[in-house]
Amino acid sequence: MRTYLILVFSLLVSCTVLFSCQSLTDKQQSIQDSVDYLKLEHSYIEVRTMAHGLKVPWGMDYVNNRVLFTEIEGNVKELDLETGKVKTLLQLHDVFTRTTPGLLDIAIEKTEKKNPFVFINYTKKVDSAIVSSLVRYQYTGDTLINPKELLTVRGANGHNGSRLLIDKNNILYWATGDVANNKMAQDSTTLNGKVLRMTLDGSIPKDNPIPNSLVYAWGFRNIQGMAMDRLGNLFTAEHGDAIEDEINWVRPLHNYGWPLIEGVHDTEQEFAVARKTIMTEPMRAWTPVIAPAGLAYYNHSAIPEWQNALLLVTLKSQSLRVLTLNSDQHDVKQEHVFFTGRYGRLRAVLALPNGDVFLSTSNRDWNPQPGFPKEYDDRIIRLRIHKKKVGTYLQEDTVGANHMMRNNGVLLYQNYCASCHKPDGKGVDRTFPSLVNSSTVKNMKQFSMLLLRGTTLKKEINGVRYEQDMASFSFLKDEELVSILNYVSKQFGNKKVTTVEELKNLRKKN
Ligand code: HEC
Repeated sequence: MRTYLILVFSLLVSCTVLFSCQSLTDKQQSIQDSVDYLKLEHSYIEVRTMAHGLKVPWGMDYVNNRVLFTEIEGNVKELDLETGKVKTLLQLHDVFTRTTPGLLDIAIEKTEKKNPFVFINYTKKVDSAIVSSLVRYQYTGDTLINPKELLTVRGANGHNGSRLLIDKNNILYWATGDVANNKMAQDSTTLNGKVLRMTLDGSIPKDNPIPNSLVYAWGFRNIQGMAMDRLGNLFTAEHGDAIEDEINWVRPLHNYGWPLIEGVHDTEQEFAVARKTIMTEPMRAWTPVIAPAGLAYYNHSAIPEWQNALLLVTLKSQSLRVLTLNSDQHDVKQEHVFFTGRYGRLRAVLALPNGDVFLSTSNRDWNPQPGFPKEYDDRIIRLRIHKKKVGTYLQEDTVGANHMMRNNGVLLYQNYCASCHKPDGKGVDRTFPSLVNSSTVKNMKQFSMLLLRGTTLKKEINGVRYEQDMASFSFLKDEELVSILNYVSKQFGNKKVTTVEELKNLRKKN
């Protein structure tokens, strides 16, 4: 019965998607004229496409009525907010891009000068090694000149971070990924899995917490968003493994726990670690994961409902989340969710001095969600307060269908597995193995142990050695694990099933 309902539901969803796809194709010429409205408690927001036909606009920053942005394959472009024109400022030819690596973030010096410094970071190959390179340019208003490489750190096929942020005193922060290497984040002498703090020529500020070190804080996995509030508090958004995506309030010398502790301290093992070494818990964590990306701080009176809030965009849950801060700035008071599934994956968010908010989509990246990309993707979208009343509008999303998930293999699979192994189970070439006809899936005991333990030893799967490990899913309840195991086995394996009894026994032995 339930399966039947879900079928009807997904038919409905795909029809709506097809339908809107059709009508938007007709309207493609005028995509920039078609708008959505969003209703907040008191205000309306106009949602308008400002640029389209882009490829993964990963980072954005603002200067002089322009939004400068990166595209993952190596372009730096400029959107002129007066004319609406997009112009290419720079094309890099040495970018190494594949799934998540590429040209990532951009940040602009805070200055009255006409030629501010512009910082970008991207992955490239030096001999056969991947590195992450931080490069400074000068912006002439027309192009980017005088490149100077300030720093390179280790890069990898995944977990390169990364965000750049410049504070009002022109101190530059760079959030680096742990390059999928478990030794990095806890080693304060390496530059990976860190928030680094430097001057605009890449040197170590005198007031850094560790003398002669760029390291400001550590214990991070893969930061994808970074923002600073009006008082100078630094916040980051980062990807958890299979659980516990995080927002952190980042302070000098604090250790955020990865990989010893994941998210909030809530297991015996984690308590034990935290008793030995002081580790800081996140302000907010999400399980099931939402895949957080860009983060911005909003405090303009233009949208009163969003004052003193962190704006977080997400990839997997395809939403904008408004996290209002409490008055001491150290806690999330409320969370409001908007646009789920409407524009697809969202990568970057930027709050402008005039109170507008810009978002970028990421539907042409390596991991598009069902129904995307649309023809005009990727886009840069503007949110602006709209003073008049409107007839039809979008509303805040109601989230958390968790209660109906427990025994529903389809939903559980979608929530915990499909982001990597894909809804059709076919995975992503050389990154996530296919589950279709997998010998592990066919062997129920081995499959159950894998979900309980995660990857324990590296082996080749059909001739491919996967760089990333798979996390343990032992945090799921027995009923939930059994639902997933049986669903995957029926869909992609040999249709053998297991029971809660069998799983309980394996868990005991584990
Ligand atoms: C964050 C990405 C990610 C998620 C989420 C994920 N996996 Fe995996 N999975 C991997 C990777 C990477 C490997 C390969 C690991 C290795 O070989 O070291 C893998 C391996 C597997 C294998 C072994 C395949 C074989 O042929 O040996 C199975 C089965 C599997 N995953 C099932 C699942 C199920 C079921 C879920 C959901 C509960 C899940 N995975 C969630 C990344 C993921």
